[in-house]
Amino acid sequence: MSDIKLRVALLGAGRIGQEHCRTLIADPRIQVVAVCDPRLEAARQTAATLPGATATDESREILSSSEVDAIIICTPTDSHAQLIEEGARAHKAVFCEKPVALDLQRTKQALKVVEESGVPFQIGFQRRFDSGYAEARKRIARGLLGRIDQFRAVGRDPGPPSKEYLAKSGGLFLDQAIHEFDLARFLVGEVQSVFAVGVVRFSDDAADLGDVDTATTILHFENGALGVIENSRRAVYGYDIVTEVFGEAGKLVVQAERKTPLRFFREGGSEQDHHHFFMDRFRDAFRAELEAFFTAVLERTMPSPGAADALGALRIGLAATQSQKLGRMVKLAEID
Ligand SMILES: NC(=O)c1ccc[n+]([C@@H]2O[C@H](COP(=O)([O-])OP(=O)(O)OC[C@H]3O[C@@H](n4cnc5c(N)ncnc54)[C@H](O)[C@@H]3O)[C@@H](O)[C@H]2O)c1
Repeated sequence: MSDIKLRVALLGAGRIGQEHCRTLIADPRIQVVAVCDPRLEAARQTAATLPGATATDESREILSSSEVDAIIICTPTDSHAQLIEEGARAHKAVFCEKPVALDLQRTKQALKVVEESGVPFQIGFQRRFDSGYAEARKRIARGLLGRIDQFRAVGRDPGPPSKEYLAKSGGLFLDQAIHEFDLARFLVGEVQSVFAVGVVRFSDDAADLGDVDTATTILHFENGALGVIENSRRAVYGYDIVTEVFGEAGKLVVQAERKTPLRFFREGGSEQDHHHFFMDRFRDAFRAELEAFFTAVLERTMPSPGAADALGALRIGLAATQSQKLGRMVKLAEID
């Protein structure tokens, strides 16, 4: 007898869609019935790895199909809001990669359709499912840090994405730093105001597009704590993600020192490897977030992180973008 309980369609067979495929293949509760991508060859190649899945370049077919219970949206950001709305109206459970949209009103509009339709909705903030971040949150919730005074995060990518990707990304604060903003909310709480500075240090593409490649953001939390976040689009040694929460009873540091638990000591020094990018640093977290989504859908509970988290991180990203442009502190209350 088959264990399959949920019929899923994957929208977008690009970088992140491929990553999620690993989970879709491995989870025995899931049957992927369709893979959709306007690049039909990519859809075909991905579908070929998922027994029983068909390939299509037409998302409407999927959304109107009674054979689909849930959709996994891994398409470019500018298509998310519409696909979320169409999926919710067709009563599909929706998992969507971050962000819902780059614009606050468009995001609210899509999330309103989700709310009205009552479908399960989860946003792709996978770091919450990393064992380090999940454990940090549990310890904070148990009060082990006492009152939290400071939050510190570093987020550096190995290199900038293509100019084409950058042009549609919404800029460093909404595309890259948004993960640190979500962690700030996840570990410390709601943010009251933001002051961000950003510069171009190396990327001609970022300069051409009016974006920045290096930034520092100061957060003031509603609970009185302060935070500082450093982002860069370049780190020659690989993906550099470090987060620290400091409180009256100690501090928690989330940092994956190396990919392989091995250091080679030799004449002249020692060496170790390093996570190259988000795919290897957060591979387990990507799996855990989708498994949690499927569990919530099957158990008819609301998945998390959901609409409020999608909106919360976006508002900080918009405030940071505005602060960097205006050269002043921006209150979250101004972002409405
Ligand atoms: N959570 C994370 O850490 C993380 C990491 C990378 C990307 N992302 C997000 O994932 C999304 C996709 O990023 P990517 O790097 O995989 O991009 P990508 O360009 O590699 O892949 C996107 C794919 O979607 C396809 N596509 C375009 N319109 C479509 C439609 N209407 N229906 C179906 N498929 C469509 C494209 O042809 C492409 O194959 C972005 O919104 C990005 O912000 C999240």
